[in-house]
Amino acid sequence: MDFRTLAASQDALAGISADALLLVVAGDKLPAGFDKTLAALAADAVKLGDFDFKGGRALTLHRPAGVKATRLVLAAAGKGSLKAARAALNAALGQLKGRGAAHAAVAFVGFDAGIEALAEQAVQATAESVYVYRHTKPSAPAAGALSKLSLVASKDEAKAAKAGLARGEAISAGIELARECANRPGNCATPTFLAEQVKALGKDHGIKVEVLDQKAVEKLGMGSFLAVAKGSDEPLRFIVARYEGAAKAVAPVVLVGKGITFDSGGISLKPGAEMDEMKFDMGGAASVLGTLRAVAELKPKLNLVVVIAACENMPSGRAVKPGDVVTSMSGQTIEILNTDAEGRLILCDALTYVERFKPAVVVDVATLTGACVIALGGVRSGMYASDDELAAALSAAGDAALDPCWRLPLDEDYDEGLKSNFADMANVGSRAGGSITAAKFLQRYASKYRWGHLDIAGTAWKGGAAKGATGRPVGLLTHFVLSQAK
Ligand code: BES
Ligand code: MN
Ligand code: ZN
Repeated sequence: MDFRTLAASQDALAGISADALLLVVAGDKLPAGFDKTLAALAADAVKLGDFDFKGGRALTLHRPAGVKATRLVLAAAGKGSLKAARAALNAALGQLKGRGAAHAAVAFVGFDAGIEALAEQAVQATAESVYVYRHTKPSAPAAGALSKLSLVASKDEAKAAKAGLARGEAISAGIELARECANRPGNCATPTFLAEQVKALGKDHGIKVEVLDQKAVEKLGMGSFLAVAKGSDEPLRFIVARYEGAAKAVAPVVLVGKGITFDSGGISLKPGAEMDEMKFDMGGAASVLGTLRAVAELKPKLNLVVVIAACENMPSGRAVKPGDVVTSMSGQTIEILNTDAEGRLILCDALTYVERFKPAVVVDVATLTGACVIALGGVRSGMYASDDELAAALSAAGDAALDPCWRLPLDEDYDEGLKSNFADMANVGSRAGGSITAAKFLQRYASKYRWGHLDIAGTAWKGGAAKGATGRPVGLLTHFVLSQAK
């Protein structure tokens, strides 16, 4: 896909040459001084009852008189917010789906949101509209002919527009990588596969990558991670990638991803319905990998460490059993009451491991609890933070990226349920407040640094007819990492 800016003023849009001119409009009318030909066409469409300026409406006109572009797509955003702009973009691009237009030019009219953020969303919407999963379904039809997007910007806007396009491209590449990894089935996207993906990314971008196998993990004393992995014949991988964009002495941002490539529940076996969706249980790993990809392209002046703990959670004669007690890398012992609460068991050792980087901040990302799906659905990711400033930064990043999260509490009282008579803690509490008790468990391993936690169980993938990975929260994480550059 080719993304670029196109210099034109709003009174001369009819002269733009493209296969489709997308006119994305906020407000209830076109402003005074707007291109006369386009204004007349829009007014006529409204008069005929085919279009209005209410949010969500989109209309395609073919070879309209006086317009150089072959198609004119009108899309109404209603409000001038970034979110409304994205919805209108999606509607406009929906008009081109499966069609012959290769080059689309997009012009935004009347938005409060600045051109930089609009440009970023234009790229993301376009990239999303053409992504098709084909690795195990090569017969899947193409999304259409779209291969080039030009963003109309005035002279004054050009610099910001270019910056927005670049950020949009980087994030889109990250989202696509995350979606592709997560969409691949469990027999394909194994821990070994994830390690190969990170290595390939490292090679392309000069990022140092270290992959630890079972022996190395044993040596580190990661008894909790090992307990989860040992029920599977698929070998585990502990993956560490280091992007160095600042001096060595600068404390890094650390991202930790849950990489359960299939979660059967283990001996605490899950019910059969929708168990296939547990191939997406490496969505946290996929998203930190996607973020690394975006960061590698944008090259901010900071250091970033990405860590992925990857294994399968399977039942077998060698699998960990309810009641087993294991010793984590931190030395704290854990009574595993439910082998299906495995995410926290692999993450706790990763959280201990990353202490060695003396991080500025650590954020872990995990499809951690069904309870979070119940609490927040598929709209916002659950967010936890050890301090208000970090919570604000994660919130702001999610809003700016249209990849929102919502802070949940970490009161001491929620820790009660993790008491065990046989170990320092149990791996599950009561069912009530399940996302919070999982976070409280992780917090016991994250006391040495500023720590954030994203529970993306509801946002990493969609079920039903649209089943597939979303690539979330690559947008949030990329914005967050960029915000941490000094
Ligand atoms: N991967 C699941 C969480 C999950 C469930 C994500 C459904 C998306 C949809 C996680 O490993 C898990 O099984 N969690 C258990 C924890 C429980 C046993 C305390 C859960 O949420 O049921
Ligand atoms: Mn589980
Ligand atoms: Zn899981």
